[in-house]
Formats: sequence, C-alpha cells, structure tokens
Amino acid sequence: MTESQSADLPLRDELKGQEPYGAPQLTVRAMLNVNETTYDVPSEVVDAITQEVRSAAQTLNRYPDREFTTLRRKLAAYLTGESGADIEAPQIWAGNGSNEVMQHILQAFAGPGRSVMSFPPTYSMYPLYAQGVYSRYIAGTRSANFTQDPHDVATQIRERRPHVVILCSPNNPTGTALSLEVVEAAYEAALESATMVVVDEAYGEFRQPGTPSALTMLADRPRLIVTRTMSKAFALAGGRLGYLAAAPAVTDALRLVRLPYHLSAITQAAANAALDNAQTLMANVQRIKQQRDRLVTELTAMGLHPYPSDANFVLFGGLQDAHAAWQHLLDDGILIREVAIEGHLRVTAGTETETTDFLDSLRSHLNG
Ligand SMILES: Cc1ncc(COP(=O)(O)O)c(C=O)c1O
Repeated sequence: MTESQSADLPLRDELKGQEPYGAPQLTVRAMLNVNETTYDVPSEVVDAITQEVRSAAQTLNRYPDREFTTLRRKLAAYLTGESGADIEAPQIWAGNGSNEVMQHILQAFAGPGRSVMSFPPTYSMYPLYAQGVYSRYIAGTRSANFTQDPHDVATQIRERRPHVVILCSPNNPTGTALSLEVVEAAYEAALESATMVVVDEAYGEFRQPGTPSALTMLADRPRLIVTRTMSKAFALAGGRLGYLAAAPAVTDALRLVRLPYHLSAITQAAANAALDNAQTLMANVQRIKQQRDRLVTELTAMGLHPYPSDANFVLFGGLQDAHAAWQHLLDDGILIREVAIEGHLRVTAGTETETTDFLDSLRSHLNG
C-alpha cells in the first residue's frame, strides 16, 4: 500500500489499491530494464544542448512559445528524412514524453463513457492512460506467438467499436513490428465505428531493414496518428520529449486539452539542439541493432526462445523460473525486466560489453 492510501485521503475510488508505475531505478553496472540507450550522450551534443539551454535561460521571465514552432519544424524535417513520408510542421504535436502525448490523445478522443483498446501483452501504461481519463479499457487478443493478423485485428475492432485503438509497433514487450497490412486493416475497420487509430512507434528507428513506418500511411488517413519519442533512439530519455504526426485537424484538436505552455523553454531548447545533432546521436542506433541481433542469436544457442525484434530490446521465453534468473542477474549487477508472461524476461540491447556481461551471467545461471 502506498503512503497516500494509508493516510485515509478521499482518493478517487478507482485509484484505491492501485500501484503507481514504477520500474526499479537501481544503479548497477548494467541497467538494461527500461530500454534506454545505454551509451552516454556524446560530449559535442552535451555542448550543443548546454549552449541552447543557456540562451533559453535568458528569456525564462517570459512564457515559452506555446506552439513550439521551431521544434515542430525540426521534428517534421527529421521524420521526413527518417521515414520517407512527406511530413509538414502543422502535422506535428509534442509533449513531455510520448506518455503525455498519449494522454492528450485520450483526453481529446476517449474520456468518460468512451473506450480505449489495445492488444496485450503490450505497453503496460495503456490501461493506466485509459483509467486516468475515466475511459473503459478493452483488452484485445493476439494470435500464436503474440503476432497480430490483419483480419483478426479488424474483426475485434468491428466487434468492440473502441473510440481509440492503440497498436504498438515495434511492440513492447515482444519487440516485433507490425506489417502495414495490419495497420491498414485496423484503419478500415475503425472507419466504420468512428475510431481513432494510434500506432505507437516509440522504437521505430530500430526496425529491421525493409519494415516501413506507419508514417508512410498518414496521407489521406485523417484518423491515423503515429507517435514517436526522443527517449530511445535519440538517447534523450531524461529530456522528456515525445511527439506525434497526424492530420493538421488532429493536432489542432489536441490544443484543446493541453495545459497552457506545457513544453518549457528548457525542454524545447534541449530538443532543438538534439535534433540539430540527430546524426551524431543516432550513430549508436546501428551498434545497438547489432547487439539486439546478437542477443537473439546467442539466446537461441542457449536453448531459450527469443522473439524476432525490431526494437532495442529482446523478449525471451523458455526459462523454468524467470524470477530466479532475474535475481541471479541482479546479484551480478545486471538489471533486466520481469514481464507478466510466465518463463519470460525482457532485456535491453546495451553496449557490446553490457551485452556480453548479460549473456555470460545468464549462461552461468543456466549451467549452474
Ligand atoms: C511502447 C512505448 N511507448 C511509449 C513509451 C513512453 O516513452 P516516453 O514517455 O519516454 O516517450 C515507452 C517507454 O518505454 C514505450 O515502451
């Protein structure tokens, strides 16, 4: 029980007995549990951010640009280059992490008396976002090995008629990206029930070659939203900048629910500087993908069952006692993630050394 619940406060009934989001934050030699980039921010980028923040500090007596005009332009240019889709600044919305962006989406398109659907196992925050805006959460189902089939997804949307459906691609915790046929089928079904379709591409930059982004589907689809974040590939989890691309009418609607000046001048400055240095920041993405693919190969060689990954992490099953393996790794200074799937754990792809340390420790546990 949390402190607020033992204090006999007049807490909302539906919050009583709930636990707050709380992945362990421990300082150990390999922190591979929340899918951050484990490389340090390069010093030249630290310098660029510092300079930009310093100049923003001189204007902190004024409220920030509430339309984050420069940031929008830079995010649109970045997405256009990254995905090959033509994305314009009015299509961009941003918030303090994609968590806040998702909350804005649900405040505008879900809310009391409405429903939000996603397909577990998936990002554990979706039901909590729904609860936070008093919406009913609908858990869809997946096919074998947690895959999603276009026909099945469309059928479930037609039956349940949610107000917002969230597809996660690459999916957390399985790591696998969806084919665009699934997004297309979901969108067609959603049109029949006035449903907004959100594709959460928090891990988009790590997708396997040849896997297109749902950003390429935005043209002529006014009810499609694609969310992204600078927390993963940009190595900027501490900067708190998430964003989305959608039709300009969607971003316009989100203005109705954001708090005034929600993106501080400091946040905008840090994100602008990071975007100016996107190439330097992304230099590690390729290395991380190599370690991710190595994890899949070596976990398979150990007799475990990793899932195909388009992300910066790998989910693997085949453990007799997942908690015992997790504890052994932690005792060795390696923190990975327990997931609510029996016999499974999830590990972030870190540096080559971190990956080697993780694999060695797990091997010694299995051979122990
Ligand atoms: C699938 C997915 N979406 C969104 C987020 C939220 O990221 P942030 O709020 O840092 O942008 C995460 C974080 O791990 C995630 O895994």
